[in-house]
Amino acid sequence: MKLALWLKNSGTSARELAVRVETTQATISRLKNGHALPSLELAGRIAEATGGAVTANDFLDPAPSERPGNGLAGARILLIISGGIAAYKSLDLIRRLKERDCELRVILTRASQEFITPLSVGALAGAAPFTDLFDARTEFDVGHIRLARECECIVVAPATADLMAKIAGGHAGDLATAVLLATDAPILLAPAMNPHMWANPATRRNVARLAQDGVSFIGPAEGEMAESGEAGTGRMSEVPEILRAIENLIGHSGGEPLKGKHVIVTSGPTHEPIDPVRYIANRSSGKQGHAIASAAARAGARVTLMTGPVEIPDPLGVETLHVATAADMLKAVEEALPADIAIFAAAVADWRMTAPADQKLKKKPGAQEMTLDLVQNPDILKLVARGHKRPGLVVGFAAETQDVVENAKAKRRAKGCDWILANDVTHARGVMGGEKNAVHLVMEDKTEDWPEMTKQQVAEKLIVRVAEHLAHAKAGAE
Ligand code: C5P
Repeated sequence: MKLALWLKNSGTSARELAVRVETTQATISRLKNGHALPSLELAGRIAEATGGAVTANDFLDPAPSERPGNGLAGARILLIISGGIAAYKSLDLIRRLKERDCELRVILTRASQEFITPLSVGALAGAAPFTDLFDARTEFDVGHIRLARECECIVVAPATADLMAKIAGGHAGDLATAVLLATDAPILLAPAMNPHMWANPATRRNVARLAQDGVSFIGPAEGEMAESGEAGTGRMSEVPEILRAIENLIGHSGGEPLKGKHVIVTSGPTHEPIDPVRYIANRSSGKQGHAIASAAARAGARVTLMTGPVEIPDPLGVETLHVATAADMLKAVEEALPADIAIFAAAVADWRMTAPADQKLKKKPGAQEMTLDLVQNPDILKLVARGHKRPGLVVGFAAETQDVVENAKAKRRAKGCDWILANDVTHARGVMGGEKNAVHLVMEDKTEDWPEMTKQQVAEKLIVRVAEHLAHAKAGAE
């Protein structure tokens, strides 16, 4: 298959290409292995991304290629098995994942236990599966939040129509759904259901919603169903296909383009005390900055994250320093330097109290007005971008409500950084604290307008751009 060859020769991972052509890694993997045909639109984007090396015609003559080697060794995978007849294939999936030296944890839904038993799963996985959200023993031992966080990806195989509806609706009534809601790891679903259920408009809506939320799919495949006499699209994909989709999803086969690099990232708001009980802050959730730190770590970088007060967990594999004020954040950043790359995603408060009060400020009898004496905070991005320890690549963010790109261009020059990721934070878009972002990457010589995508996808795409930039800079220096 030409696409497989192009990926191999150009050293591009399926994940990178997926980000560039705005699809999922699972789709690229299926195209690469000749298991699917792209839409004309997607084929066009692939032709553009490959500089015309792979065109629509090249997909018409697929010769399935097997991936040699093992990209899954050491991968921490959480497998959720939901209740369908295809659950028996998941026993084989467990065996194959163990053969590949994965660190595997398994969750069984209540319905799946009608098809396979915790005993057989535990015997194959080498550890007891998790079954209950309210099991005092396992909740105390590991807990659903740890299950959600201590993995590189979650694979749901089989994924029933019912479970997909629950995930799409944000339910968290049992262990599987609670973990899926709490995770920030990539999710791969291997649906399996009756063809009528798969074709039902409700399922179509749920699949579209999940894909929009950044969830990847493998299958379902076409063919005969376990129920006698039924055929159509709805069979769970075969185990080798699921394994390949997992490999592509977690990018183990994509190399580590930022290996040996130190990346510092700021994230979240800052809290500037007014008095012992009040502070100045903003609505930043830290989701975008944390996603960037996580993506940089997955790309092999050593990452130091400086975060203001947020409600979300520290990203996996990242040294996370918790600070409160802009002054603390600046100090932490200065101490973390030198770095190769610095990405400033924090929404630092512009002002702080000239002198925070030692005691709680009281209302003054008869006075309707109150004036706070504020002074500007240090601009961390500007100080680093113009400082003597300036990293090779400095990236800032611009949250704008009007003339987004024009303001970002001016900001790039004023701050002295290399790139600005500009996003429209008009209230109606729900960016602050929300899941999605529509951003523009403003560089010295060009601006890229990225389509609306999840904050994880923005993070992945930014890290791909960073890796490309480093590769060009290296090639230029040689
Ligand atoms: O000037 P403005 O706040 O719009 O600039 C936003 C960018 O500058 C972001 O990258 C933010 O992290 C960074 N910044 C900073 N320190 C400040 C203010 C903003 O690092 N005091």
